[in-house]
Amino acid sequence: MRRPLVAGNWKMNGSLQSIQELLATITAGVADGIKADCAVFPPFPYLGEVERLLSGTVVRWGAQNVSQRAPGAFTGEVATAMLLDFHCTYVIVGHSERRALYGESSAIVAEKFAAARKAGIIPILCVGETLEEREGGVMETVIAEQLDAVIELEGIKAFDDAVIAYEPVWAIGTGKTATPEQAQEVHAFIRGRLATHDADVAARERILYGGSVKGSNAAELFAMPDIDGGLVGGAALNGQEFVTIIKAV
Ligand code: PGA
Repeated sequence: MRRPLVAGNWKMNGSLQSIQELLATITAGVADGIKADCAVFPPFPYLGEVERLLSGTVVRWGAQNVSQRAPGAFTGEVATAMLLDFHCTYVIVGHSERRALYGESSAIVAEKFAAARKAGIIPILCVGETLEEREGGVMETVIAEQLDAVIELEGIKAFDDAVIAYEPVWAIGTGKTATPEQAQEVHAFIRGRLATHDADVAARERILYGGSVKGSNAAELFAMPDIDGGLVGGAALNGQEFVTIIKAV
């Protein structure tokens, strides 16, 4: 039985004040019990404050990115050891914005995935195709390449301590959600790809859907057999909406 996870990726949003209000709403909203794991992903400077506000609650936290390298002369980077200082449970690796805007290749993303696991932090590996790739008929090739880079470096068993998020790039921040059927088809493809290496790991793997998840569409997405929760961007900045999504599990 896979326990769903609802993750809120705040991206480059928030302030000390807005975080306090947001987390107060979320922690109050989940206080009566939830059927999923849940976590928030603030910008790095707020990790200490998020840890302070969420310690002792059911809400976990993590970072949106991490360096693949050990501490050293890498200006502007953040190491896994630093995330551990703030007791991060998770870290997102390979978000499409990192891949597209900051040139992170699948090889780099695989190294970040490996660094996270080595530190005992659960990586959430994002994969997904652009609209052009989907329409060009190479969606499965693209997603397979993103998965294979990690499988080749870390081995299939590594997925036992990892989460995958399928995020079609055309659905991120656009208001265009994949239909539950479209998402399910790709989730089944991803699970099938893992199963060619190890059926048990594949059956246990949590695969989240991301891309314009909202309170109004979460339940139908999460009802699909291979969708194990969501990676939520814009809607995670609204406390009530995020709680509605968590409770849609
Ligand atoms: P969105 O972002 O929910 O705003 O589409 C999802 C994501 O990028 O993780």
